[in-house]
Amino acid sequence: MDFKRKGKLPWLDMVLYSIKHRGFSNTCSLGWKEWRKERQLGINTFGDSSTDELSIESDSKLGGHLYQPSSSVIFGRAMKELPFSFSDKVFLDVGSGKGRAMILAAEAGFKKVIGVEYAAELNDIAHTNIEVVKSRFPKTEFELREGDALEYKMPEEVDVIYLFNPFDEETICKLLQQLKQIFNRDKKIYLVYVHPVHCNIFEEAFGKPVSTITNWKGIADVVIFCN
Ligand SMILES: C[S@@+](CC[C@H](N)C(=O)[O-])C[C@H]1O[C@@H](n2cnc3c(N)ncnc32)[C@H](O)[C@@H]1O
Repeated sequence: MDFKRKGKLPWLDMVLYSIKHRGFSNTCSLGWKEWRKERQLGINTFGDSSTDELSIESDSKLGGHLYQPSSSVIFGRAMKELPFSFSDKVFLDVGSGKGRAMILAAEAGFKKVIGVEYAAELNDIAHTNIEVVKSRFPKTEFELREGDALEYKMPEEVDVIYLFNPFDEETICKLLQQLKQIFNRDKKIYLVYVHPVHCNIFEEAFGKPVSTITNWKGIADVVIFCN
């Protein structure tokens, strides 16, 4: 699957890709659960958008992948691997799209969730989605930044950095410089990488993941690194 450009029938591409990697019944069950989660939260994060369709003013545009929302099922599995409760922890979504992972993090109980996204249209939708759910999660502070993730200085307070396949190898290598500095901090930081197509780059820098979640074919859905 081309992560940068949409095919002629993007939904079909995605469904076929999922069937190939997860199997038919798992794909149907996942689709149903995600649809139910949208309804339950009253948000609208479905759909996909390639960088060509979005107004992005950033040099990193070429390295950016398609917008796709996080799966709540995979997100939940990833969060179960983290060895702490979230009520005093800060979650950062790098490439936050329409805000789905941020909202799932609020639902999981994080004290604060931060998102950084360079596509204005997606960010506007994320703002709307967050407004819809805000009152459900009064203990969570939401912060949404519009801009290039490579130019965003990750704050000291961050505990969990979340990447759902946001960009290509070259851009990951650029982000790595900042991540290396963050991993040098005294406190524990977890890097949760979903759909980890460039996992080898992090492995070279940080060693083996502390946790890997695989799908029915044994392919990694999520890898988690820790300093
Ligand atoms: C696969 S989507 C994930 C969306 C969201 N994190 C979620 O889990 O629902 C990747 C997102 O990264 C954004 N992105 C890609 N490159 C970026 C960059 N350099 N700076 C900020 N956002 C970026 C894309 O616009 C897209 O919304």
